[in-house]
Amino acid sequence: MPGTVGMMHMAGGGICGVPRAGPRRLAALALAAALAASTCARPADYIVPRYESAEAWVPVFDDPARDDWQKPDEVIRALLLPPDAVVADIGSGTGYFAVRLARAVPRGRVLGVDIEPDMVRYLNKRAERESLPNLASYRGDADDPRLPTPVDVAIFVGVYHHIARREQYFRRVRAALKRGGRVAIIDAFRIPPEQVKQELARAGFELAQEHSFLPDQYFLVFRPAALN
Ligand SMILES: C[S@@+](CC[C@H](N)C(=O)[O-])C[C@H]1O[C@@H](n2cnc3c(N)ncnc32)[C@H](O)[C@@H]1O
Repeated sequence: MPGTVGMMHMAGGGICGVPRAGPRRLAALALAAALAASTCARPADYIVPRYESAEAWVPVFDDPARDDWQKPDEVIRALLLPPDAVVADIGSGTGYFAVRLARAVPRGRVLGVDIEPDMVRYLNKRAERESLPNLASYRGDADDPRLPTPVDVAIFVGVYHHIARREQYFRRVRAALKRGGRVAIIDAFRIPPEQVKQELARAGFELAQEHSFLPDQYFLVFRPAALN
């Protein structure tokens, strides 16, 4: 059951890199744990994603209580997106960020990218239902987001730890950025922020900003480093 995975693990006192927590933040952390992984079975530094059914994950990803700790509006404000920006939400899932991004860039475009066909189907339907003609979802590959157009910002929320060959992957993301483009990574689990910085440096990025307003996740923004 998607909605219970994180809570069961939290009852054991922390797993998948999720810290122990007192009752006050237990609910938020349980949801964050579910966001991080639907399975913790693999001892590698990435987690094979299993998000086959979009509808099953809606109560977790789109839980209104998530707003308290995920702070989506603050995250989007921090990205300083012009209204005509082209944004890729990679690992967009059911569209928690994608729909908000689409509203934030009314003259731009949001590309939702996911490897799960059902997430792609669900988000395209959601865009239609919520009258967001500037949002469309696409299928990406595990090793390549296959972005159909260059983007100003590529954002990854709870996705970094699902990507196996990250240097190769982020080199492809780098090639898909417009001039002045950026990559935002929000995550919490298994892979510490210092490792993300090192890996992104190997993929040709440098840290542009590090935000600290999210209580349970790091929020790093990178830009392409100048080529030697
Ligand atoms: C924990 S969910 C996060 C969903 C969404 N970003 C959110 O914050 O609600 C991770 C999502 O990333 C997708 N995913 C995992 N690996 C991916 C990859 N290599 N490329 C694109 N999507 C991926 C999964 O299918 C899943 O929908």
